[in-house]
Amino acid sequence: MSFPTVRLRRLRYEPAIRRMVQETSLSPERLIMPLFVRSGKNIRQPISAMPGNFQLSIDQLVQETNEIASLGIGGIILFGIPDKKDAVGSDSMNENGIIPQAVRAVKQTLGNKLLVMTDVCFCEYTDHGHCGIIQQLPSGRHDVDNDATLENLARQALIHAQAGADVLAPSGMMDGMIQAIRAGLDKNGFYHLPIMSYAAKYASSFYGPFREAAGSAPQFGDRRSYQMDPAASAGQAIREVQLDLDEGADMIMIKPALAYLDIVRMVRDRFAGVPIAAYNVSGEFSMVKAAAERGWLDEKAVVLESLTAITRAGANIILTYWAKDVAKWLAEPAM
Ligand code: PBG
Repeated sequence: MSFPTVRLRRLRYEPAIRRMVQETSLSPERLIMPLFVRSGKNIRQPISAMPGNFQLSIDQLVQETNEIASLGIGGIILFGIPDKKDAVGSDSMNENGIIPQAVRAVKQTLGNKLLVMTDVCFCEYTDHGHCGIIQQLPSGRHDVDNDATLENLARQALIHAQAGADVLAPSGMMDGMIQAIRAGLDKNGFYHLPIMSYAAKYASSFYGPFREAAGSAPQFGDRRSYQMDPAASAGQAIREVQLDLDEGADMIMIKPALAYLDIVRMVRDRFAGVPIAAYNVSGEFSMVKAAAERGWLDEKAVVLESLTAITRAGANIILTYWAKDVAKWLAEPAM
């Protein structure tokens, strides 16, 4: 009988040693909480497919952000639900639209205690639910007009900037969107305002619950002509990221997170020094919630493991609907 001289378990017997040698840790200041905001007063409209999440009126949003800031969470990302939708998504380009109002209210109360990011896109604001202006292609099919949409994206971004947003996060996957937004911002003196680009965003079925939350499901067709094909070569994600960086993106995002950790890792290895965010999306949230409600999974353990995996893959920043829970869990004494 021979005994092993190399023993990997030596670093695992003592909890304090495990903690000392672990390289991956979570921290609330690197989390971003997505929030949905609508008009009205005193409204917390539950989102049925996302237990614990609400469409909030602005007064409620301000309360919520107070709690989020006091938990040490790094930031929020706001999604607007307008009262009226139309073909171009006018509410998103109006200085008194839902997002500019919400940003002003939160910044007024919290100042620089919390980063206020805004999702820059049109799908919540258009009556057809697509992420831009619709045109008819020569084939007769209707699809988003890339370049016409760029002009409106620049307008929307400027409105968010003027309201006081700290970071803009364009999610529409239009070619050239970062350049268009950057140019519009710089021309108006917002050269200091960072852009976090949804650079590699896949046409994913994991966005299902979000589309209920934001009322943004496309009324015809799907988003596959602008969001990425999950089966595309990973090299395409590299090209998307490279392009956005060349156009002036300051941080890049990969979305969804868990089914795309290979992409997170590849982008991490390829682009040293670029902050990478990963979006732990609505479907990833709802799956675990549903299983946990049935007692099939331990929610806290599964969430901490998942977010640790996203971090280990190379993400610096995580957008997650569990941000508040995670901040509370991390504050509990270690076992
Ligand atoms: C689009 C947008 C979507 C999400 C964030 N921004 C939905 C989509 O592309 O259909 C999804 C987020 C989630 O599922 O949690 N503006």
